[in-house]
Amino acid sequence: MIEREVRHGLGVVNVNLLAVQDLRKNFGQFEAVKGLSFTVEKGESFGLLGPNGAGKSTAINMITGLFPPTSGEIRLRDIDIVRRPKQAQKTIGVVPQEIALYQEMSAKENLKFWGRMYNLSGKKLEISVDGVLEMIGLTDRARDKVADFSGGMKRRVNIGAAILHQPELLIMDEPTVGIDPQSRNHILETVKRLNHEGMTIIYTSHYMEEVEYLCERVGIIDHGQVIAIGTLRDLRESIGDRSRIMIMLDGETFNQQEIINHLEGSGLSVDKDILFKENLLTAFHKEPQNILGGLIQYLTRDGIKISSVEIVEPNLESIFLQLTGRSLRD
Ligand SMILES: Nc1ncnc2c1ncn2[C@@H]1O[C@H](COP(=O)(O)OP(=O)(O)OP(=O)(O)O)[C@@H](O)[C@H]1O
Ligand SMILES: [Mg+2]
Repeated sequence: MIEREVRHGLGVVNVNLLAVQDLRKNFGQFEAVKGLSFTVEKGESFGLLGPNGAGKSTAINMITGLFPPTSGEIRLRDIDIVRRPKQAQKTIGVVPQEIALYQEMSAKENLKFWGRMYNLSGKKLEISVDGVLEMIGLTDRARDKVADFSGGMKRRVNIGAAILHQPELLIMDEPTVGIDPQSRNHILETVKRLNHEGMTIIYTSHYMEEVEYLCERVGIIDHGQVIAIGTLRDLRESIGDRSRIMIMLDGETFNQQEIINHLEGSGLSVDKDILFKENLLTAFHKEPQNILGGLIQYLTRDGIKISSVEIVEPNLESIFLQLTGRSLRD
């Protein structure tokens, strides 16, 4: 699927806003990004989902021209970002993972500073800054110094700084990590609104709920590689639309191997359909209600105590689990 997308993207002029092909980054002997390929169309909201250390920030930093890749191509329309990062940056807005603001300056002064960096001045700068303050919901706090802001408010100023020059492509690197729920919701709504107004978004996160809420298409990244890519529907179909039955067992009462042996006999294939992590037994099945009764009966018959049972519809976490055997937040 990746291959086809990229060939299509590079072959047809102006279909894709961004085309990343076989991107690699080594830090010494360590390969942080190992052959990443994907495309983003104009107007799209594309999610890059992956656990800590997957290589998201490293990829984003190369795409935004912060540092060059070890090899690979990145094109923004016909601009080669690797060779001409400055030119590409004129139409890209970046919200980096680390907040970068002048603590002693007010929100408004910070935004003005960034606006001048994008060559805005005078009335244009003023209008742009006021519009952005409104957008990020900080008009009332515009004159307060950033040092007194909550983490979420600082993050909102950071987002404001990235959109002052009305970029065509907004790239956000985990913009909601470690902030209060109110700011988080505000940020998600702001991103949604910007996308509806036509801005193309690349949204990086390890929270699958955010990516599911915001993004039409998702690349799942692990150990520096895209392990799945497509629309949410494509990805759900790729795991056969299977729900997850999660059964929490009482630790003292069961033998993992015995359960696995039994379930193997029942037709669920252990390495694909069953996962055991400590006391949590996870079974994937298209029609969970058809097997749940039998499963519980089997477990309880042998005196195993069950602490809880949950059925989860197919989601991005299930896909990651099925592909890697790990959970996104392990
Ligand atoms: N400058 C560097 N030098 C050496 N190793 C690095 C450097 N930057 C990143 N790495 C390593 O590359 C891997 C990918 O890191 P990266 O920050 O891109 O992950 P991430 O997906 O953004 O993770 P997180 O969700 O924690 O932000 C990690 O193992 C990290 O330790
Ligand atoms: Mg990161």
